[in-house]
Amino acid sequence: MSKSFRSLAIAAAREAGALLRENFGQNHRFQLKSGFRDLITEFDRRAEEIIVKVIQKQCPDHSILTEEASVAPHQNSHYQWIIDPIDGTTNFAHGFPFFGVSIALYRGREPLVGVVYNPIHNELFVAELGEGAWLDDKRLEVSITESLRESLLVTGFPYDEGLMQKHLRWWGRFAERTQSLRRMGSSALALSYLAAGRADGYWELDLKAWDSAAGVLLVSEAGGCVTNLRGGPLDIFSGEVLASNGRVHQQMLDLLSEP
Ligand code: IPD
Ligand code: CA
Ligand code: CA
Repeated sequence: MSKSFRSLAIAAAREAGALLRENFGQNHRFQLKSGFRDLITEFDRRAEEIIVKVIQKQCPDHSILTEEASVAPHQNSHYQWIIDPIDGTTNFAHGFPFFGVSIALYRGREPLVGVVYNPIHNELFVAELGEGAWLDDKRLEVSITESLRESLLVTGFPYDEGLMQKHLRWWGRFAERTQSLRRMGSSALALSYLAAGRADGYWELDLKAWDSAAGVLLVSEAGGCVTNLRGGPLDIFSGEVLASNGRVHQQMLDLLSEP
């Protein structure tokens, strides 16, 4: 069952990704949403329309939650597709080649399928509950890094001005105690890179469910750990995600809880 949903998510991500690849590299006009850092381009909408059309054709009864809100959610289906047509819109709009199409299928609160596609690098990250995670044909495993001092961590900055100082304090502390930090501009790709062992840990607050819905399944299916920022159960609707290779999780939690 999930296998055919997986193929559907892959087909939708590739079709939307092709549109983004063809139209990448111009300086795109954008509009603002919640604030001066929260952008939308014509291609966020067009990519979302493609994905929704592909999914609705096969699964007309499923709920669909999208960032650009092009469909009214069905409240009565247990199955919910959670879609970010361009995760990394700021990168896309500036012609910076780092963004992904993110598509997840949930049954209630349980992730069944997660797909993240980077159309510029042509990298397809796929996870299915209980079956593992892959980058194209390669099975993914998180890194074996044991300590923060040897870690490369990834994060993103909040759009909410009120959370910026808190995040900058954490950024400063992690910068002092890790090998290096990256601010990626795409949470979906940050989590995919963590699943692929290219980074060791990730934290962010002020996310939306579609930023992490697919990525968190990639991390857990690659053997990593996903929680909220206090080590409790992850809720993708809460805005907070702490994800890691498992080995540095407690060290990240300790730093995040320092006064
Ligand atoms: C954003 C990216 C970014 C994260 C922001 C998200 P968008 O998504 O994932 O990495 O830091 O919180 O909103 O707006 O490009 O879809
Ligand atoms: Ca996003
Ligand atoms: Ca987006």
